[in-house]
Amino acid sequence: MTTIAILGQGNMGKGLAGRLADGFALNLGARNPQAGQLGYADAVAGADIVVLALPYDAALEAIKSLNLAGKTVVDMTNPVTADFSGLTLGHTTSAAEQLQLAAPGARVVKAFNTIFAGLFSAPRSATAEVPVFIAGNDEAAVVAVTELARAAGFAVETTGALDAARLLEPVGMLNIRLGYGLGQGTSIAPTWLRVAA
Ligand SMILES: NC(=O)c1ccc[n+]([C@@H]2O[C@H](COP(=O)([O-])OP(=O)(O)OC[C@H]3O[C@@H](n4cnc5c(N)ncnc54)[C@H](OP(=O)(O)O)[C@@H]3O)[C@@H](O)[C@H]2O)c1
Repeated sequence: MTTIAILGQGNMGKGLAGRLADGFALNLGARNPQAGQLGYADAVAGADIVVLALPYDAALEAIKSLNLAGKTVVDMTNPVTADFSGLTLGHTTSAAEQLQLAAPGARVVKAFNTIFAGLFSAPRSATAEVPVFIAGNDEAAVVAVTELARAAGFAVETTGALDAARLLEPVGMLNIRLGYGLGQGTSIAPTWLRVAA
């Protein structure tokens, strides 16, 4: 059985864990582990896939300090400013690429950054057509995260190499603007239509 470590038991970490509870062995990683949880390093040991369900700065710290060589690492971060009004980096790089630079041996895959945490609690039928946008340099890692996203009850939109995160993180920011700033709420999600022409 595939073992997935989810680091960070906040909104995203808990939500994703809920969707993956059947069919995977889950190592729930927390800074201060409670019953049923592990510290980050113990959660990562033996895991096939490591999900960084952490704020960007914490994800950067974690990826530097943990042994993630050879592991598929899911980056779901949006590197937002403290007031959520914009991104702290972009255009010529991305959070995902910075994480990859910090841990060259890890196989970083961008995924889930456009999925509001509340969607994990929706009925699976409600999210079946909602795409998780995926980007990564390692083909096997992209395939593994594609399977994970589908198992979590979502569709997948593959966007190419990891530098596509430069485009996906602004989409995550737009989602935040629409959902919070412009009051549409957190049941929205971006998708890509194929229009019958
Ligand atoms: N919320 C959303 O709808 C959403 C949507 C798309 C993407 N994201 C991205 O997903 C990531 C996680 O978001 P979230 O909403 O799950 O955040 P959250 O509810 O604040 O949870 C983040 C978790 O990270 C861990 N953590 C480690 N170091 C931390 C630090 N210095 N400060 C705060 N938390 C720290 C904590 O878990 P432990 O104490 O258990 O270790 C915390 O519960 C972020 O990068 C965010 O941009 C969020």
